[in-house]
Amino acid sequence: MRYSIKYVCTQFSVFVFTLCVFISSLTAQDKIDEETGFIIAKGFKIVNMACTLCHSSQIVIQSRSDREGWLETIRRMQAEEGMVNLDPEIEKEILDYLSTYYGWRSDDFE
Ligand code: HEC
Repeated sequence: MRYSIKYVCTQFSVFVFTLCVFISSLTAQDKIDEETGFIIAKGFKIVNMACTLCHSSQIVIQSRSDREGWLETIRRMQAEEGMVNLDPEIEKEILDYLSTYYGWRSDDFE
């Protein structure tokens, strides 16, 4: 069977589209703050302020947890380490950031 021009064009467009999506996913990698190693995104500044007072950012970066896990960590910092209570808005932003960028990743289970 010979392929029609239309078929070939469609296949080719799909290929080009997939390639573009792939390339943009490579270039859209998260930017890393050189000083702390934190991913630069919404909430970065606030986490950087709140979570590097007593220990290095590495302790946070090396850790992975879901939202509840991070909340537990914050509560433990407060109960055991004397961390100040956070404004609920600020706490929410910290949890958003941590659970998005330092949540479980599929390759953690391999
Ligand atoms: C008041 C001081 C203080 C602040 C503020 C603080 N921590 Fe901690 N954190 C500690 C201490 C002390 C330890 C345990 C000692 C160590 O291992 O260096 C610790 C350990 C950790 C650990 C590793 C061990 C564990 O318990 O899971 C993580 C993860 C962590 N902190 C995350 C955070 C995050 C996220 C924030 C910001 C929301 C934060 N910390 C803010 C004092 C603090």
